[in-house]
Amino acid sequence: MIGVFDSGHGGLTVLDALVASFPRERFVYLGDHAAAPYGTRPGPEVLELTRAAVDVLFRRGCRLVVLACNTASAIALRGIQQEWLPATWPDNRVLGVLVPMVEAITGTPWHAVRPDWHVVPARTVGVFATLGTVASGSYPVEVAKRAPEIRVVQQACPTLAGLIEAGADRATLTAAVAVAARGLLDQMDGRAPDAVLLGCTHYPLVADLFADALPLGTEVLSQPERVAMALRAYLWRHPQYAARTGVPGAPLLLTTGDPAAVTGAATRLLRRPVEFHAWDKDLRR
Ligand code: DGL
Repeated sequence: MIGVFDSGHGGLTVLDALVASFPRERFVYLGDHAAAPYGTRPGPEVLELTRAAVDVLFRRGCRLVVLACNTASAIALRGIQQEWLPATWPDNRVLGVLVPMVEAITGTPWHAVRPDWHVVPARTVGVFATLGTVASGSYPVEVAKRAPEIRVVQQACPTLAGLIEAGADRATLTAAVAVAARGLLDQMDGRAPDAVLLGCTHYPLVADLFADALPLGTEVLSQPERVAMALRAYLWRHPQYAARTGVPGAPLLLTTGDPAAVTGAATRLLRRPVEFHAWDKDLRR
């Protein structure tokens, strides 16, 4: 069983891509709706909440958890991998959504030592994300380490994930996305980015609005797709973390919030029936 974690139900965009990519794998998804949004929380809180959620997924029997949340990946993943896991769950693993995107932007594997001949064409990539992800600086810092020719311009969208999660109407979302796109273009003196990353799990749900608000020809990188590709490569190298039960089944969706309310909101958002269940509170330490 593979765990997938997000602050809310935006991470279902990533889960959908994983389920499509691994039809014989069992997934359990946990949305921390009771504590969302993460994007405006101080870093230590994001770390604590993420660690507690991952712990719950491990206690349910997952050996591998994907943080399908950019904010958690940017702020909490390093501490979890370097300190908490070795001390608490040394045989388990946690992956995030940031690494696959940095690899996609730079065309360079995360751990590769950059050879001199590897010249990355100079280009500008826009990153739309939460305040927390932008403040962490993770995307520009990690891209600069691997491909300094690439300019990363970040644009925080402090309210967008909340609006999407709350099921705001299309006109409200169109206006919010237009403000974000304008903010990015203003930072670039009106020049078009070569590509943009929708660096928050919720934004793929309004990818069409981003495409409409950005200059024609701007590539919109698909995070769910890239994360699925990266997980495929990871499980090929580390097959012990694939459950491979051979028994396909719908993913189990859990929430720390009110299951009925989350079920309604997620169903409206994804435009298909989605059923959330109460998480096992008792599993939280
Ligand atoms: N899921 C979070 C992310 O991908 C955004 C939502 C939140 O602020 O909780 O960054």
